[in-house]
Amino acid sequence: MDAFQIEGGRRLSGTVGISGSKNAALPLLAAPLLTSEPVKLSDVPDLSDIRNMRRLLDTLGCTAETVGPNTVSLHTTDTAQSHAVYEIVKTMRASICVLGPLLAARGQARIALPGGCAIGQRPIDLHLRGMEALGAQFELNAGDVVGRVPGGRLVGAHVFLGGPFGSTVLGTANVMSAATLAEGTTVIESAACEPEIVDLANLLNAMGARITGAGSPRITIDGVEQLGGTDYRVMPDRIEAGTMMVAAAITAGELTIENCPLDALRAAVDRLEAIGVDVHHESGDAYRATVTVGAGRILQPCHITTQPHPGFPTDLQAQFMALLTLADGHSVITEKIFPERFLHVAEMTRMGAQLFRQGPTVIASGVRTLVGAPVMASDLRASAGLVLAALAAEGTSTIHRVYHLDRGYEKLEERLASVGARITRIDADGD
Ligand code: EPZ
Repeated sequence: MDAFQIEGGRRLSGTVGISGSKNAALPLLAAPLLTSEPVKLSDVPDLSDIRNMRRLLDTLGCTAETVGPNTVSLHTTDTAQSHAVYEIVKTMRASICVLGPLLAARGQARIALPGGCAIGQRPIDLHLRGMEALGAQFELNAGDVVGRVPGGRLVGAHVFLGGPFGSTVLGTANVMSAATLAEGTTVIESAACEPEIVDLANLLNAMGARITGAGSPRITIDGVEQLGGTDYRVMPDRIEAGTMMVAAAITAGELTIENCPLDALRAAVDRLEAIGVDVHHESGDAYRATVTVGAGRILQPCHITTQPHPGFPTDLQAQFMALLTLADGHSVITEKIFPERFLHVAEMTRMGAQLFRQGPTVIASGVRTLVGAPVMASDLRASAGLVLAALAAEGTSTIHRVYHLDRGYEKLEERLASVGARITRIDADGD
């Protein structure tokens, strides 16, 4: 299995560009199930999750053809097969994105229930509740959720998507996509406000949908009879951009970040500035900005609480924890979206970090240096946190099982190496 070997302690400096967003692209890739016309998506990142989604779409009669660099043309030509099988779903929980489009376009869907997950429980009750409000009926059969729409067409309704940890991002994506073809008007209350939801609404509207309010907690969808094809560019990846910002800060370096979705990163930038990191908007609009990020050796401690957007994103919690292990004092990090998402804590501790976890909160007592060590990646963002810690650590670290990282970061090692990191991909036997 692949591992990264990182010789830490080198200041990063130079320019990196941000790829299209994985978490935006996954629901966008499912949207062409809603139409018989081709949809062309550009800036689709080349990642294992994306390849798995393409594989899934193929089994559902939607072919995804690469027609240029990071550009995919998707075309639904066969609607006979509506079963998302466990072999694919188990590799990628975002497979649930096909549920809404299949129910809306075909009146039926069968999706294997995703199993457990390293970052904690990932229920889909809110997705189902939302779709039930639109008239779908579900039963569990042999580990699959089997959904059907009596009468064949969903009917618009008021849908409330709030849960114990806030709204649901992919649940909102599913209900919003499904409602585009429903009869009448749907209002989603307590909708997720994440920028990826806005990106999906923009694509669906370009396909002929009538959605307003995306990006706010109330989204209104006036159903239409059919959707058509379009060309669309995926938004840049805010989590990759945030990770690069921390890479600059943790190495006391300076990076220019191009194609940076600054507008989607206000909470992260607020925390970076509290830590003493300089973030400067050089040019471009706030959706695709050029930004320089630089830091000195002294980092201030701070408090971070993850929240639904526009709060601080859970997907940057591990990366910021890596940074705060080196701050000059005590920081408090509280995880309010996935309270068990702390698998990186024990691994960072192996590198000399002083971290004390109590329930959903970790106190980081800053140390002067981290020390390179062999560590194990456990999930996508935890792995990114470990890579960042290793970039700052004295000596050599080996990050095992980087296949987790490859799910969400395209050629991360090449891009970090291009700005001065000593990082190589190795084949670590017996991993
Ligand atoms: C999306 O997952 C992202 N995935 C996650 O990114 C991200 O961490 C998460 O949103 C939160 O921002 C993709 O976009 C592909 P949720 P999603 O439904 O939509 C609870 C990464 O690292 N909940 O918004 O599946 C849930 O347990 C990944 O790129 C219910 O209770 O997350 C959690 O506590 C990991 N019932 C909270 O809501 C439900 O039916 C938010 O989850 C659904 C969710």
